[in-house]
Amino acid sequence: MTARQIILDCDPGHDDAVAILFAAGHPGVDLVGITTVAGNQTLDRTTHNACVVCSVGGIEVPVHAGAARPLLRPLRTAAEIHGESGLDGPAPIEPAVAPRAGHAVDWIIDTVLAAPGDVSLVAVGPLTNLAMALRREPAVAEAVREVVIMGGSYTRGNTTPAAEFNILVDPEAASIVFEAPWPVTMVGLDVTHQALCTPEVQRGFAEMGTPAGDFIDGLMRFFRGNYAGVTGMADPPVHDPCAVAVLADPDTVEVVPATVQVETSGAFTSGMTVVDFKAPAGSRHRVATGLDAPRFWAAVHAAVAALPAPLS
Ligand code: BDR
Ligand code: CA
Repeated sequence: MTARQIILDCDPGHDDAVAILFAAGHPGVDLVGITTVAGNQTLDRTTHNACVVCSVGGIEVPVHAGAARPLLRPLRTAAEIHGESGLDGPAPIEPAVAPRAGHAVDWIIDTVLAAPGDVSLVAVGPLTNLAMALRREPAVAEAVREVVIMGGSYTRGNTTPAAEFNILVDPEAASIVFEAPWPVTMVGLDVTHQALCTPEVQRGFAEMGTPAGDFIDGLMRFFRGNYAGVTGMADPPVHDPCAVAVLADPDTVEVVPATVQVETSGAFTSGMTVVDFKAPAGSRHRVATGLDAPRFWAAVHAAVAALPAPLS
């Protein structure tokens, strides 16, 4: 199977960090570059964190910073989950790489248009950069291969009763992304809450004996404590690599056709993803409904174990 070219748009973030390392180490995907967005923390922190993760994982791909705030709303972050740095836990690391010049939105457009039909977008933060790319150059919708997002839910939210964090932060952007004429797969909480970092999964990282394995172990120690404090979940769900898995190892995630609309104005439901499983034939949307968790974690462990030495 040819590796799928992906741009990973993210807001690291503990689970974003795992998504980056997974994408870089899995033979099923070719990580073309990383773009950052404000979400779990401010843009300067998420961009710094992406560079830290690249350094730890020996990942030599361009990192471009994107939107510093949602399209219309003030930024809300998730410091209660990811800490003040956005990546609290491991001892601070000085990155060996810096973000490239040029806005993420321009870089996404240029990269997608340069290879029509080849590049997929995997977005695991608020969808501000993708919406801006569509507005700036609508031709990206035709040229992209497909879009996979971590966000939303068809059952319940995690930040409000109705809304998942990534969609809630920028519902207008999410609405633009789902309305655009490109194929979008939504990997929501219904599935990512099956990707639990159990003590056994965490031991798999700790016992790898590599810098990337130790780094994830440190991240998960912090994440586990905060997640339990905020949600009461004993094991934290590691959301973002589930979206990478859809392209890296499609048999891991069950997806079905559906239609997704985003609530932008409800008094109690702003940021909710309204999923209609009676999708008309030819629907551009798919929604993830199941995860083979053992297969998923085996793939993540193997990918992280395969990463080269850190950059220096
Ligand atoms: C999503 O919100 C963020 O905090 C995580 O990184 C993930 O992308 C889960 O709701
Ligand atoms: Ca994220």
